[in-house]
Amino acid sequence: MELAQAARSQWKSRLGAVLAAAGSAVGLGNIWKFPYLVGANGGAAFVLLYLAFVLLIGIPLIMTEFVVGRKTTRNPVGAFRELAPGTAWVIPGISGVVAGFLILSFYSVVAGWVLRYAVTSLLGALSGLNPEGAAALFTEFIGGTWAPLFWHLLFMALTVYIVAAGVQEGIEKWSKILMPGLFILVIILVIRSLTLPGSHPGIAYYLQPDFSALTGKSVLAALGQMFFSLSLGMGCMITYGSYISRQDSLVKTAGQVGLIDTLVALLAGLVIFPAAFAFGIEPGAGPGLVFITLPAIFAQMPLGQFFACLFFLLLAIAALTSSISLLETVVAYFVDEKDWGRRQTAVVWGGLAFLAGIPSALSQGAVNLTVFGLSFLDAVDYLTSNILLPLGGLLTALFVGWRMRQEDVLAEALQGGGMTTGMAQVWYFLVRTIAPLAIGLIFANAIGLF
Ligand code: TRP
Repeated sequence: MELAQAARSQWKSRLGAVLAAAGSAVGLGNIWKFPYLVGANGGAAFVLLYLAFVLLIGIPLIMTEFVVGRKTTRNPVGAFRELAPGTAWVIPGISGVVAGFLILSFYSVVAGWVLRYAVTSLLGALSGLNPEGAAALFTEFIGGTWAPLFWHLLFMALTVYIVAAGVQEGIEKWSKILMPGLFILVIILVIRSLTLPGSHPGIAYYLQPDFSALTGKSVLAALGQMFFSLSLGMGCMITYGSYISRQDSLVKTAGQVGLIDTLVALLAGLVIFPAAFAFGIEPGAGPGLVFITLPAIFAQMPLGQFFACLFFLLLAIAALTSSISLLETVVAYFVDEKDWGRRQTAVVWGGLAFLAGIPSALSQGAVNLTVFGLSFLDAVDYLTSNILLPLGGLLTALFVGWRMRQEDVLAEALQGGGMTTGMAQVWYFLVRTIAPLAIGLIFANAIGLF
């Protein structure tokens, strides 16, 4: 009964809500995915586009999901059901649960790589690696059979354990203690990277935009990354919003979450690109980019192995607070809507997500598993980030903008303060008009309609 309607959990404070939602947002999306996408899509122009999406669509949509969640204090499916009973509007809720499950399946695989790097660095295997050595180590490891499966299993087991333990004891505690540690370590790495000889072309690549490098595909990739990194479009923030107290400001919480997440991603780029250029690593190297660049940076630091171990450990924990939020969304649905027990639901759906992740884990060399020319892992990532999440976000925006009553929406948005009525009107306009239009146009463009 821990999460049943009567005794539903709530964050203990607004700081708790910010850190928990930021814990969901900050993860592999910031440190693994953002730098490699920037590198694959031509550098600074992609970064600028990403920032514009965060401001105009991302933060307003966090706020939107919070409004839906807190107004109903339900899981995503239950929330849409309560607001529009008996209509097709449960679709964004359902698609969110499906997307959460699919993301969790491959997320745990990559987080498993991180765990294995934490342990490997402890054992000294990363010490003194040159960039070629780091690349060879990475390719050999992810191309294996049993090792990637083992680390995937271990990471999923940790996720299940924490979700089974419940909201406050689990998520809030972890997020509060460990996020600042990761942040400090990233700053140390930025300094080391920027002071490497030969790093300056990397700064230019990262910060001086060349818009001719942008294609329709990179615009969709920037949009998808914004959704992925901010944990948007699958109801994750609806679930988290449902735990926010009515005394707390939604807009402040949404703004701070967006800010923290974006800052961490930007700093991660400032670690990777100067170093990649200094070491002669190709910025478009793809999903292995950070796993190759980081060990090369650690090799150039005093106490490098210690820092490497600490960094990968903290990154694994940041990934854990994100994977928790993915599983939590799935679990909240079955607990609230189907009356399943919390523990059993966490074990069953975590177990299924482990199984669903096996093809992703093996698609990196062990077996030849490609879909539309992408590895299975990248294909599931593409399907969720670039299609399901933006679609979920589009439907949520349309729902809040056009289906819910304007007075109700604005009242909930303003409840708890932090915003003038004028600001609320601007937000409402962004949600009702700009966000759906932008997402629609980007989709149309990506499938070649123009
Ligand atoms: N945002 C997380 C990251 O950047 C991943 C994540 C957690 C997520 N929950 C989500 C992505 C919900 C999309 C939707 O690593």
